[in-house]
Amino acid sequence: MLIKRPDDIRPSEITPRSLYEDRRSFMLGAGALALAGGGVLPGAAHAQAREKIAGLRPAPAAYTLKEPLNTYEQITSYVNFYEFGTDKSDPLRNSKNFRTRPWTVVVEGEVRKPRSFGIEELLKLAPVEERIYRLRCVEAWSMVIPWAGYSLSELIKQVEPTANAKFIEFHTLADPKQMPGVKDPVLQWPYVEGLRMDEAMNPLSLLCLGLYGELLPNPNGAPVRLVVPWKYGFKSGKSIVRIRFVENMPTTAWMRSAPSEYGFYSNVNPKVDHPRWSQARERRIGEFFKRETLMFNGYADQVASLYTGMDLRKNF
Ligand code: MTE
Repeated sequence: MLIKRPDDIRPSEITPRSLYEDRRSFMLGAGALALAGGGVLPGAAHAQAREKIAGLRPAPAAYTLKEPLNTYEQITSYVNFYEFGTDKSDPLRNSKNFRTRPWTVVVEGEVRKPRSFGIEELLKLAPVEERIYRLRCVEAWSMVIPWAGYSLSELIKQVEPTANAKFIEFHTLADPKQMPGVKDPVLQWPYVEGLRMDEAMNPLSLLCLGLYGELLPNPNGAPVRLVVPWKYGFKSGKSIVRIRFVENMPTTAWMRSAPSEYGFYSNVNPKVDHPRWSQARERRIGEFFKRETLMFNGYADQVASLYTGMDLRKNF
């Protein structure tokens, strides 16, 4: 598996603390942020037009972490999106001309009402909320990100899953004409991830359409991705084109490429090390010292009950 080990992360890839955005500057709005943030990659200008999300609402307190936010520049330039290259800075550079309109998500499988959703429909399906979540990458770094979206359950309700729907597969775009990384056999494309039905229905699971009050930037999975905050970041597939309800546990792209390292559940768990490194601590991008990793990435109150009676060492 080519996800970089924590030790491989160069010090220059870690943004200095001085680039931190505090919550007050966030309240000044996205325009001020663009000026105030400073760049992780000077010169890596965004060709993608930035567009505000109309009618964005604040989320209930349960979805709004009170921790300093990572900057827009950190979030868009320190990225894993292998379809655009395996270096953290590749996706920002290589996704500038990525076409996200028109965009359709096909929803099919064990549902009574299979159908497609255009991206404009998805933007109107439910009120779009700003939710501040931690993202913990399996490589032992983390960020705090102001996402925009609504619970995935809103979309699931629309298609009426049958009693046979036990899991959901998420397939993301693999277009070699637009995505240079897809020519690299680092994974078997397309990138496929999955959730158990009750995990997908948990209100924390976010169908994500934006960040920092704007439509999703290309490096972060435009125009629609998942964010599952109690699992390692790789469960949150980017640029989703197909959602399939199935009876049997899907084999995900990472399980296929390294089954001894990546299980289906992939819950953030400081007690279960990755076979090649510890998961006990993490580096918040922008900070120097590591911090303890929290069980379920700090969301245990909301999700621990989903796994009652399961051995989380076996079901890693
Ligand atoms: N989705 C796709 N399609 N391709 C990817 O390579 N990388 C995953 C996940 N989703 C990935 C993906 C990994 S490893 C992480 S940590 C998160 O995206 C990172 O999301 P972010 O870059 O927006 O923080």
